[in-house]
Amino acid sequence: MSTLAMQTMAQPVQTGLAGRYASVRQLTEEICRPLEVEDYVVQPIADVSPPKWHLGHSSWFFETFVLKPYVQGYQVYDDQFDFVFNSYYEGVGARVIRTDRGNLSRPTVSQIYAYRQYVDAAMQHLFECGVSAELEEVIVLGLNHEQQHQELLYSDIKYILGHNPLFPAYDDKGIEGNSASVMKVLPVDEMIAVEAGVYEIGFNGTGFSFDNELGRHKVYLQSYQISSGLITNGEYLEFIEAGGYEQFQYWHSEGWAWVKEKEARAPLYWHEIDGKWFVYELKGLVEVDLPQPVCHVNYFEAAAFAAWKGMRLPTEAEWEVASSQFNWGARWEWTESAYLPYPGFSKAEGAIGEYNGKFMINQMVLRGASVATSPEHSRNTYRNFFSTAAQWQFTGIRLVRG
Ligand SMILES: [Fe+2]
Repeated sequence: MSTLAMQTMAQPVQTGLAGRYASVRQLTEEICRPLEVEDYVVQPIADVSPPKWHLGHSSWFFETFVLKPYVQGYQVYDDQFDFVFNSYYEGVGARVIRTDRGNLSRPTVSQIYAYRQYVDAAMQHLFECGVSAELEEVIVLGLNHEQQHQELLYSDIKYILGHNPLFPAYDDKGIEGNSASVMKVLPVDEMIAVEAGVYEIGFNGTGFSFDNELGRHKVYLQSYQISSGLITNGEYLEFIEAGGYEQFQYWHSEGWAWVKEKEARAPLYWHEIDGKWFVYELKGLVEVDLPQPVCHVNYFEAAAFAAWKGMRLPTEAEWEVASSQFNWGARWEWTESAYLPYPGFSKAEGAIGEYNGKFMINQMVLRGASVATSPEHSRNTYRNFFSTAAQWQFTGIRLVRG
C-alpha cells in the first residue's frame, strides 16, 4: 500500500482511531472464530445473512465510504464486490438481492478474509497519513456500523445453528445469561412511578450518535408506571399455559394472523419435549431457565403478553425518560412507538443518507441493548427498529401501566 498517494484532508488530527478501528475489526473476526466453514455460507430465512456476507459487507462499507472517496489512487480489491456486498444503497448501484446472499458459494470465506486484510492494511496506512475531522466522522460511523453487524452476527449465527436439527452449540458458554442486568431482573410488580409533565428526549451528548437520535426535543407525558424488571421466562410461561396463544382478544389483527399462519405457541427457539420446555441457546439446547428474561419474542407477542397482563408496552419517550431508574441492557425492549423521524430530522448528503431515514416506515422502535450488543455501543437514546413479526433478535418485554 506504500505506493499509494494518500490525500490528507484539511488539518490532520491525531486520535486513537487506528487502535479503535483495529479492535472493532478484530472483534468481528473473534465472533466468527467458533464457526466451521460451512456455517459461514447459509441463509435459512431472508432476515438472516450468511456470516461471510457480514464479513465482506462491513469491509465494503470502509472501502466504499472511506477508501474510494478519500484515498487518491486507491485500487479496489475486486470491482465485482460492489455487487455482492452492497446491502441497500441505491446511490451506490446494483446489488445482489437480499434473499440470494446465501446462494453464493463465491467469493469464498478465505477470499473474504483476504479482502478484510486488504481493507485493513489500506485503513492503517490512511491512519498513518492522518485523518481529517470530516473523515473521522465517516470512519466512526463505519465502526458503529460494524458493531451493529457484530450484533447481527450473533443473531444470525444463532438462527443458523438453532434451526439445525442437531442443535449444534456455538461454544460452551453462550451469551444469553451474560449481562449483569440479566442477574438483576426484578419482579414485574415493582413499578416505578413517573409524574406527568414535559420532558426532553433525544441525543445531546458530545460523542457519536446515529442521525435518528437527533435532535433533542420536548415531549409531554401523562403520568405512568413502568416495571423495573424485564419479563422473565417464568412469567411468559404463565401466559403460554393460560392459553395466551389461543385467545385472539390479546392480539393485534396482524399478530393473530401471524399466530395462525405460523402456528405460534412459544417464543422462537422454545421446544416442548416430553412435556418440558427447552430452549436453544448459543451453548446448545437447555431447559428453559425461569428467572432469565424472556428472549426472541416479536412485537406481536410482546403486545399480546402486555394485554394479557392488563398493561401495555412503553412508548419510546416513556422508556427513555425513566431509563435512569431501572437496569437495562440484557434484551432489546419493544416499545409501542412507530419508528418515525424526530422533529428536525435530516439525512446526510449522498448514499450515506440512506443509512436510517428510508427505513422509517412499518417498523417499531426497540430501546436498550442486548447481551449481543458490542461494548460501548449502547445509549439510552439509541433507537433500534425491526418489523413487527421479527423474533430473531435478542428482544424482550418491559411493561407500563397508565
Ligand atoms: Fe450494513
